Amino acid sequence: MVDWDELEQIGIVASPTRVNEAGCILQEGKEREVTSESLVLIDNRNGNKILAVCREGAGNNDNLKLSYYNPGVAYARSGREASTAKEFYSFTLVVIGEITDNEVKQNKTIIAPASPVYRFKPGSNPMKLFGHVKNTIGYYAMGDSNWRVPVLAEYIPHHIGVFGVTGSGKSFLCRYELIPFLQNTGYNILILDWKGSDYAPYYPGSVISMGDIELDESSIYSYLFEKLDRFGGGKPAEALARYLDEVITEGSWRDSDPSRTLERLMEAMEDAITEDNREKSGQLSRWGELYLRRARKYFKRLRPEDIEPVLGQKSASEIIDLLREKKILIIDLSYGSKEQKLSIFLSIARKLKELMEEKNRLNIALLIDEAPQYCPWNPQGIEMETTEHIIELAALGRSYGLSLVLVSQGIAGEIGINAAVRRNLNTLFIGRIHPLDAFEAEKFFTNSLIRADSLLRLPEGHFYIVGKMNPSPVPILITFEIEESEKLRHGER
Ligand SMILES: Nc1ncnc2c1ncn2[C@@H]1O[C@H](COP(=O)(O)OP(=O)(O)OP(=O)(O)O)[C@@H](O)[C@H]1O
Ligand SMILES: [Mg+2]
Repeated sequence: MVDWDELEQIGIVASPTRVNEAGCILQEGKEREVTSESLVLIDNRNGNKILAVCREGAGNNDNLKLSYYNPGVAYARSGREASTAKEFYSFTLVVIGEITDNEVKQNKTIIAPASPVYRFKPGSNPMKLFGHVKNTIGYYAMGDSNWRVPVLAEYIPHHIGVFGVTGSGKSFLCRYELIPFLQNTGYNILILDWKGSDYAPYYPGSVISMGDIELDESSIYSYLFEKLDRFGGGKPAEALARYLDEVITEGSWRDSDPSRTLERLMEAMEDAITEDNREKSGQLSRWGELYLRRARKYFKRLRPEDIEPVLGQKSASEIIDLLREKKILIIDLSYGSKEQKLSIFLSIARKLKELMEEKNRLNIALLIDEAPQYCPWNPQGIEMETTEHIIELAALGRSYGLSLVLVSQGIAGEIGINAAVRRNLNTLFIGRIHPLDAFEAEKFFTNSLIRADSLLRLPEGHFYIVGKMNPSPVPILITFEIEESEKLRHGER
């Protein structure tokens, strides 16, 4: 419901108008108070009240037209002051919706030219027009911090993407807003902290180091196979891959000491090769010799520290149990190679998949920072597996309450995440984008008059919320307060 005491007129609607868009001519002086992204109310003379947002501001002065020589231009050239008599300011208003008693719904009525346009006075809160919504994320960037933005929690398992260049505030958005929101809505949160610096230090007592996690057999296989440089490729490598798989499944190579484990693995490989390639005479075949040589060559490159990650003790089930107990769990992936990190992801992903296939409702949010490491636009090697798993988790997650929260610096192309994965993210938080993403990012803002040139300039901690969880059909700009101690002073980065 509209409270007229909270409103102040700023202008009127210009002509021509449409259902979803209208120009607004500002009253004199209001251009200093109303900015782009300001929320306004249109008291439509055609009968309804409409909530809208100011975009594409313009200043006009007929005396100062650049396109031809005129008296204003002459004044400017001679260094004199030009007349401001013909100056006026306007915004294009993008319609959010029609205000009804308890919600904002799609507007279908043409906006009448000359309808008065109001802004919300300081101290008011237009967010309540969206009706009673329990959950919020951040606050409306052009309002005050009480304008908490309502979000629709039922779309959490339709997955979330957080995009923005480095330093745009993605990890902070997650820590300050998304994680508390997910917790309030009953989700347990499992965070894969690629660098170990974005989350792990902030949740002491809820961090588990990657070295402690047991890898399942397939993950050990993918990990070692990558570490062994896929035995150099070609036909011999295919055979060696098979032997490696056999040896890992057989399992007797495990030892608490990594060097000893490495020796045993090599011995088991040698045994498997010799056994399989013996000729009738008892001698090793020519292929056998070749396999042995190749295996030894590539095994020699492994160091005991490469083996450490396959000796972790905590199984994926234990991790999930621990997550249930702690409600939030951070896996610190800061040491170790990319293959190690991805293998840990695979172990956990398989467990989650299994639980969902057994029809368990999870209520888990899996937060993956640095998402292009797991599902790049053009996955290679082990990334193909991780990408596929993410797609499968996304599909199952919608029915069984697993929400993926993918955090990435880029949206598409070389800097972005895989297109098939991206299609599964139904709510996006888009902060300052990379110039390479300008074209891709604009697609999310069709008909909302937000162009790449404003996305390229967003300050840190400002994000457009786009998609299903957004109560508004057009993207709106949110931000959030961070603690004083965490603010970086200019130039410190
Ligand atoms: N809401 C905010 N208000 C003010 N400053 C902020 C806000 N959010 C983030 N910042 C500042 O921006 C800096 C970078 O934020 P953050 O580490 O979240 O970036 P990021 O997008 O995760 O970067 P990267 O991709 O490198 O991980 C922070 O150190 C913080 O000082
Ligand atoms: Mg970050």
